[in-house]
Parts: sequence; structure tokens; C-alpha cells
Amino acid sequence: MLAHLLHLRGIESVILESRTRQYIEERVRAGVLEQGTVDLLVDSGVGARLQREGLVHHGIELRFNRSGHRINMYELTSGKAITIYAQHEVVKDLVAARLAAGGKLIFEAADVSVHGFDGGKPFVRFRSGGEFQELQCDYIAGCDGFHGICRPSIPAGALTAFDRVYPFGWLGILAQAPPSSKELIYAYHDRGFALLSMRTPEISRLYLQVAHHEDIENWPDDRIWAELAKRFETDDGWRLTEGPVLQKSITGMRSYVVEPMQFGKLFLAGDAAHIVPPTGAKGLNLAASDVRVLAQAFAEFYSSGSTRLLEDYSRICLRRVWKAQRFSWWMTYVLHRFDTENSFDQRRQIAELDYLTGSRAAMTSLAENYVGLPME
Ligand code: DHB
Repeated sequence: MLAHLLHLRGIESVILESRTRQYIEERVRAGVLEQGTVDLLVDSGVGARLQREGLVHHGIELRFNRSGHRINMYELTSGKAITIYAQHEVVKDLVAARLAAGGKLIFEAADVSVHGFDGGKPFVRFRSGGEFQELQCDYIAGCDGFHGICRPSIPAGALTAFDRVYPFGWLGILAQAPPSSKELIYAYHDRGFALLSMRTPEISRLYLQVAHHEDIENWPDDRIWAELAKRFETDDGWRLTEGPVLQKSITGMRSYVVEPMQFGKLFLAGDAAHIVPPTGAKGLNLAASDVRVLAQAFAEFYSSGSTRLLEDYSRICLRRVWKAQRFSWWMTYVLHRFDTENSFDQRRQIAELDYLTGSRAAMTSLAENYVGLPME
């Protein structure tokens, strides 16, 4: 996304991707795009397929105490929505756009290391097709994820990390089954959280809260469907559509931020700088808003020589990052079962959901965060 935005402003870049093109175009990841992310893709000319194939949702359902409550986000936010379009579909569209524009995209770049960003001459070393290469550049953008090499390359002590690990994970499945609901369902149940999402009108994406470090071997497909059915069960006979499980995995849940998101001429964006627990689907969207700011800052530098926006990059991004952190943490707390809970906490949690689905003020707050706070 960053390379594409830079290209539109006449700025050259090289993308070093450690995986193959096929791997990144098939890997199942997130799937909910905020309104601002959709606008960014459409306005920058890579949204045609997204507009054709994306599923626009105007509401979500919160389900607890065996009944569902719809939050009409569209109405509460004066016309904003979310779009279901898988992250790897966004990746495909962006790869195609970069290649069509003659962009430099090096797949299977190995042994990547970043240097010189503390002074005036940054460079990146990597191996491609067995050959070591060195790439001289003005700036390095670390868009290499939580486990990437950029953040750890910054000298110890230069960054401050803020961290929270949650005592559970999500077991996610992709199933060849038409979604049982037109809109997403976030369910709170005594047995734990469950989420019904989708990728297409034929493919469901479903999640279950499971124990921390749970082994996927303990979850044969039958057990997953039985557990989902229990957590989504209602009094009005709603039924979960089942189908062959195409893919399943377990992810841990963590909140993490480093400050600042920059050191010298190395700028961190997306998961390289921060991760959120998945509840609320903010990860991809935060990455998109980071690179939007970064592209503007580079554009200002290359057009006027001013580093004013580059120097402000971290401050601008972190304000929005922390609000998304707060929202993701809050949604996680409201919808999950914690082992430490006693009966008071359970009653309080139901009261919270009851309040949330009964108060226009509370629903508006949820809706405006869910569709995405404004990008600065
Ligand atoms: C999905 C993931 C989320 O974390 C979420 O809150 C909603 C949907 C998804 O993968 O579809």
C-alpha cells in the first residue's frame, strides 16, 4: 500500500518480501475493512474489484443471553459501513497494481538487514536468488510485521514498549458453508466468546475463544461445530450452517505498542510497531492509516524538502493507534470469559452488554469506533 501511494506521488521504492507471491496471495488473514480503508483503496485506484466483490455491511449483531441485538452502524455513523474483503485479496490487488506500474517487488528476499538509518546513508542488505545485494536509499519503511527485523534493529533503549497478553486465544476456521447470518455476530457466552464472520456468500469464517496455548489437535471439526452451536444458540431456533472445514488455526491475543514509531531514517508501520487483539478487526486498518500518513510525509519531503511531517509521523499515528488499542482492548474485555471472573463479574458483563445494546449513546460509541475513527 505504501509503495503504491508513493508511486502515485512520483516517489520510487523497492519492496522486499520474504515470502513467495503465491504465499502472500493465499494466506488467510483478516477480512474487515473500515470505511476509511475502503476509501483509501478506492481513491488510490486499487478498489475496483473490492467494490465489485466486497460485501458491504451496515450493521453487526451482539448476541448474549440467547438472543441477538443488532447495532445499526450505518444509521449511527451517518452513513458509514464496513466491507468484508479478505486481506489476501487486498494483497493480490496491490501486487497486481505494483507490477502493472513497473514497480520493484522482490519476492523471497532472504537474510534482510537494515543499516545506516541512524546517519545520512541508510542501506538494506539482502539475498535474492543466492546473490547478496545492497540497496542504497533515502529512507527505510519497516512494514515487516510483529516478527520482522526492523523493530529489533533499532538500538536497545531507543523505543519504549507497552504490552498486554490475554489469557486466551482464538481458534479460527474457514468453512465451505454459506454464512448463517448476513451480518457478523459477536457472541458472549458462559462458555466463552464466539464470532461468526464470512469471506464470500459461500465461505464462512468462524472463531472460538479457546484456552491460552491450546493445541489445535484437541479440536477435531465435530468438536468445533458443536462448540460454535452452543455459543451461538438462541431461543428463536436460529441455526448454524455447517460445511467442510477448509482451514483452521489458533492465534494468541496481545496488545502491543512501541513509541516512537521511528528511529532516524527508519519508520515503522503497521504490526511492526503495534498489534491489537483481533476483536474489532483493527490490525489491517491501523496499518493502512499509518502508511497513509507516511506517504504524505514522504510526499511533503520530496516536494518541498521539509521534514516537518516526517518528524510528526509517530505522534500523528500514535494518537489513532492508542484509540484503536483502547477499543480493541475494550471489545475483548466485554465479549470474552476471563478465568479470574467471579459471579459478580459475570453479572456486570451481562449488564454492560445490556446497556450497550439499549443505549443509543453507547451504541454510537461502538459504531463510530467499529467503522473506524477518522484518519488524520
Ligand atoms: C473477522 C476478524 C475479526 O477480528 C473481527 O472482529 C471480525 C471479523 C474476520 O476475520 O472476518
